[in-house]
Amino acid sequence: MKIGIIGAGTMGSGIAQAFAQVEGNNVLLADVNLDLAVKGKERIAKGLQKRVDAAKMEQEAAYQVLNRINPVEKSAFSDCDLIVEAVLESMPLKKETFSALDVIAKPDCLFATNSSSLSITEIGHGLKRPLIGMHFFNPAPVMKLVEVIPGLNTPPDLVEQVSQIARDLGKTPVVVLEAPGFVVNRILIPMINEAVGIYAEGIASVEGIDTAMKLGASHPMGPLELGDLIGLDVCLAVMDVLEEETGDTKYRAHPLLRKMVRGGRLGRKSGAGFYTY
Ligand SMILES: NC(=O)c1ccc[n+]([C@@H]2O[C@H](COP(=O)([O-])OP(=O)(O)OC[C@H]3O[C@@H](n4cnc5c(N)ncnc54)[C@H](O)[C@@H]3O)[C@@H](O)[C@H]2O)c1
Repeated sequence: MKIGIIGAGTMGSGIAQAFAQVEGNNVLLADVNLDLAVKGKERIAKGLQKRVDAAKMEQEAAYQVLNRINPVEKSAFSDCDLIVEAVLESMPLKKETFSALDVIAKPDCLFATNSSSLSITEIGHGLKRPLIGMHFFNPAPVMKLVEVIPGLNTPPDLVEQVSQIARDLGKTPVVVLEAPGFVVNRILIPMINEAVGIYAEGIASVEGIDTAMKLGASHPMGPLELGDLIGLDVCLAVMDVLEEETGDTKYRAHPLLRKMVRGGRLGRKSGAGFYTY
């Protein structure tokens, strides 16, 4: 299968790796320009090398995964069977990206978005083909869940096709109807936002909050650590969508979360968030 991934950031490169781990797949990775797509592949190479160094993967297997990933300009997506979009969480950007791809891609190419919270129906409106949500979790090569989200105009056979594609990656698809934040983020991101509030009120330290949730709720990672991993900008965008779409102020982003994003402290990807990397 030939898969085009657009957006070579945290998720796009992880999704590219998840597809490239399956023999027979050919993955094209694109971003704003070729340089950024090459950087995305370099990030994947680094991650794989760490696994090799830790004896969790054979060097040869890492090379095979890397050889299945080709950084390209998006114009090269013309013969892809599936395109997964993982650009920034912005409705205008996603709509613009898909309308350009609608012209480039062959007619039977499937379109999926990895959006964390936006309306699949709205992203897909005006396209010549149906769109579906294929929501991976971070780190995409490892996490087993894919939320499969049909929009208003997504036919049931596309839901089944994409669920099968997820199973072929070794993932478990869960079909979720379109709703702000879907299932996981509607629960998870407000929890991270609450942890930011607890920290801002001085109730506990960053480490204290994370330790409390790891040991007290058996979470594998603490909420602030997880916010840093997801990207605090992504967390903020999800909170804003939840509040905007539901009109419910219980989803209001904490001012500290907004301040950190405004100051460029986005978590791991910027080198600092609640922790320094
Ligand atoms: N971070 C997470 O944990 C997570 C989990 C699931 C889904 N998502 C969703 O995945 C998407 C990407 O998030 P991310 O965390 O990878 O963000 P990111 O900032 O790491 O990556 C976004 C990438 O999109 C690229 N981009 C921007 N404009 C573009 C354009 N016009 N054409 C092509 N590429 C463009 C950027 O250069 C960047 O490389 C978002 O919709 C987000 O909500 C994120």
